[in-house]
Order: sequence, then C-alpha cells, then structure tokens
Amino acid sequence: MKPLQLRIGLLGLGTVGGGVAEFVITRAERVTRLFDCHLELARALVRDRTKPRPVEIPSSVLTTDPQDVLGDPTIDVVVEVMGGEEPALTYMGAALQAGKHLVTANKEVMAKHGRRLLELAAQHNVDVYYEASVGGGLPLIGPFKRDFVANHISSVRAIINGTTNYILTRMSQEGIDFRDALAEAQRLGYAEADPFNDISGLDAAYKLAILSSLAFHTEVTPDQIYHQGIDTLTARDFRYARELGYAIKLLAIAREHPSGIEARVHPTLVPHQQLLSEVNGVYNAVEIEGDLVGQVLLYGRGAGRFPTASAVAGDLIDLARNIRKGVNNRTQARIEAGNRVLSIQELDTRYYFRLTVSDEPGVLAEIATVFGSLAISIAAFIQQESDSERRTAEIVLLTHRAREASVQEAVRRLRVLPRVREIGSLLRIEDGRSDRDA
Ligand SMILES: NC(=O)c1ccc[n+]([C@@H]2O[C@H](COP(=O)([O-])OP(=O)(O)OC[C@H]3O[C@@H](n4cnc5c(N)ncnc54)[C@H](OP(=O)(O)O)[C@@H]3O)[C@@H](O)[C@H]2O)c1
Repeated sequence: MKPLQLRIGLLGLGTVGGGVAEFVITRAERVTRLFDCHLELARALVRDRTKPRPVEIPSSVLTTDPQDVLGDPTIDVVVEVMGGEEPALTYMGAALQAGKHLVTANKEVMAKHGRRLLELAAQHNVDVYYEASVGGGLPLIGPFKRDFVANHISSVRAIINGTTNYILTRMSQEGIDFRDALAEAQRLGYAEADPFNDISGLDAAYKLAILSSLAFHTEVTPDQIYHQGIDTLTARDFRYARELGYAIKLLAIAREHPSGIEARVHPTLVPHQQLLSEVNGVYNAVEIEGDLVGQVLLYGRGAGRFPTASAVAGDLIDLARNIRKGVNNRTQARIEAGNRVLSIQELDTRYYFRLTVSDEPGVLAEIATVFGSLAISIAAFIQQESDSERRTAEIVLLTHRAREASVQEAVRRLRVLPRVREIGSLLRIEDGRSDRDA
C-alpha cells in the first residue's frame, strides 16, 4: 500500500516551528517506515522571509501570505505555532472551515476559545490536536482524553510554568531576590524579554483553563481563574517557609466540588513531604487525582524547541493514523458550557502571613484581636527578625483553615493598625487535601 501523504502548512517557524520543521525533514524516512505516512512540509508562514532559520528550508516553502497556507486545497493539516491570540485565532478558524485538520501549541487561544474551535472542527469533520499547548513534551491532553477518561477526576495540581519554577528554585536555593533570579533566567533564555505572562501567573492560568476543562468536562476560561504572580516574594519568605517545613511553588490548582469548580494560580506553600515540593528548575509536574487511578504524577520538561516539537509531531502521527483508518474526532474531548467556577472569596485554606510590626508590647494582642474577630485561628506564630534601628520586628503567622473573604477582611483591618508597618506576604498553604473535604 502507498504511504499516506500528509501535506503540512506551518503557521510560524520560530522556536517550536523550527523544531517541527526539523522533525519533518530529518525523520521523514523513519515516520514513513513505522507509520506508513509521508509527512511533507508544504508551506511555512513567517513574518520575515529573510530571517536566518535554524533549519534549511527551500525558499519556495516560506511565505508571508497566510492565504498560501489557508487557501491551498492540497494542504491537509495546519500546524499553528505562531502564538498570541490574533491573528492566530482567525487563521485557525479559517483552516477548520476550509476542512483542514489543526495541530496547535497555542495555550492562549485554546484556553480562551478552545470549546468553540472544537465545535467548529466537529461541524467540519476535522480534528483539533493541542498536546503542545500545556507542558511542552509532557503528555497531558492525550491522557485526559483517553487514559483517564473512565475516572471522575477530583483534582489537578500543577507546576506548569518552567520560567517561574526556575526563578523560585534559584530564590530558594541561593537566597537571591526576585529581580536577580529573573535577570539570571533571562540571561539563560528561560525567561522572555517581556516576562509578564509568566511572572504574573497568567501563562499558568491559560494552561490550567485547558487542563480543568478537560478534567471536569466543563468549560473553564482564564478570566474565571484567580491568578497571583511571584514578584512580591522575597528570599526571606523561602527561608521562613523552609524552617516551617514548606517549599514555595507557583501552583495551579483545580478541584471539583458539588457547588462548582475551584481554579486558582498563586505562589503556594507546599509541604516538603509532597513530591510537588521537589520539582525544581525549569521542570514541570502535574498531579492528577482520579477515583479509579488514584494519584498520578507526570513530570518533565514543560517547554523548549524539541520537547514541544515532540508533542506536535506526536499529534501529527496520531492524525495520520486516524486519516488512514478514515476516522475523525475519535478521541475528541467533551467540554460542556455553563458550570459554575467558584470565586476566590469562597476558598477555605490555610494561610501564611509575613508582617513587619513596631517592636513594642501589645502589638501581637492587637493582631490576635483582628484575627479572632473574624474567626481566623492562628496555628503558629514566629517572631523572625528585629531591626533595632527602625524599632520593628518581622513576624510570621500561619493560620488554621479560614475563608478567603475573612482573610482579605483581616488584611484590610491590619493595614489600618498604626503599629502594623507592612504586610509583606500573604500566601496560601496547600496541604493536598480537598479544602472543602477537610
Ligand atoms: N517556546 C516554547 O518552548 C513553547 C512551549 C510550548 C508552547 N509554545 C507555544 O508555541 C507557540 C509558538 O511559540 P515559539 O516560542 O515558537 O514562538 P516564536 O519563536 O516567537 O515564533 C513565532 C513564529 O511565528 C511567526 N509569526 C508570528 N506572528 C506572525 C504573523 N502575524 N504572521 C506571520 N508569521 C508570524 C514568526 O515569524 P518570524 O520568524 O518571521 O518572526 C515566528 O516564526 C506559542 O503559542 C507558544 O505559546 C511554545
């Protein structure tokens, strides 16, 4: 039998697109031999045709006109690796409407518009693959669509941003401050020149939206996910957390409750006994809890040219297998609209406070009164450091479980106490149990 010909139109030939092109060009023979399919790079859309590319591509393949990809009826699949919301979303919609399959690494578009694109693909009887959109080479979308599908998933807890995990690891291990760790990450190419999406937690919120929609079969969009960044953390927070038995990680957490979906991204104190506390550097890890499978931890490189190209190429080969068998939408995710996503105000968890107060008698009693009046009970209190010149002391408090709305009210009340000079950090603690089940 003749191998299947799969003509690929690439949208983007940067870090990921370059890796995909290299895979298609250098492994064509192996793919044909093992999978009976000949992948061919038909066109590649770029902004600048004169830019040097890491892989040699015939100049006739490069184009700056999206119609050369979207309007070419001989192109079977569009691989969108240009990034950003627009014009990527428009091009992706046009590809599906033209009856082309779509493979994408675009977390922003899939997080914001994934359900709509999946519906459009179903209408046109084509597939959308997006394994590379979360966790680079880590298999996540596939397992949710196939391997975990028999489970009722109760939680997903993840470290899914390598840039921030690298920064937090350096702050923890070397005692350096946020700005220095960020500068180092940028020097090493782990952080972009504009790191806003990473350090603000937005990138992780996009990824959590995709994972929670798959896990709970209900649409969760990024604007429904509370996110807080890592830029206010200090090296001291890591030292105090360590003394108390915790690491600090930017955790993306989603749980299903009878009242709705809990979904949030923020720096979190994770107990040292939990595996997630040991995930360091640029590595990612996603912990899934299902009623049949129990706890599963997926760990690996969450970004980079070849890990991400591995996910895109795996999608292309799976698509080729489907086309050979004459099937579409075989393992399409079922994502419904309309479930309630809980507000952060409804969260019940434990909290870490770092405060700078006047070093005078009676201050602690004032703070305890604020907490007591809001039914927040203090689990541990440590006076960390005194500054005799400024006559201040730094204190760290851990609370028992409390309602976020009450904790935010406590912050408002503490801020107006003259002897509370600064609320340095307010972090949530994650003990791994469902907050509502405790
Ligand atoms: N980098 C990673 O490790 C990684 C990991 C997982 C997922 N992703 C996702 O993969 C996607 C691509 O990321 P990347 O790092 O490969 O980006 P990148 O290096 O910036 O490459 C983007 C490519 O798209 C082209 N492009 C962008 N806007 C265009 C437009 N309006 N018209 C035509 N061409 C356009 C650029 O052309 P020029 O080359 O001519 O400028 C470039 O080739 C993003 O969605 C990203 O979130 C990346």
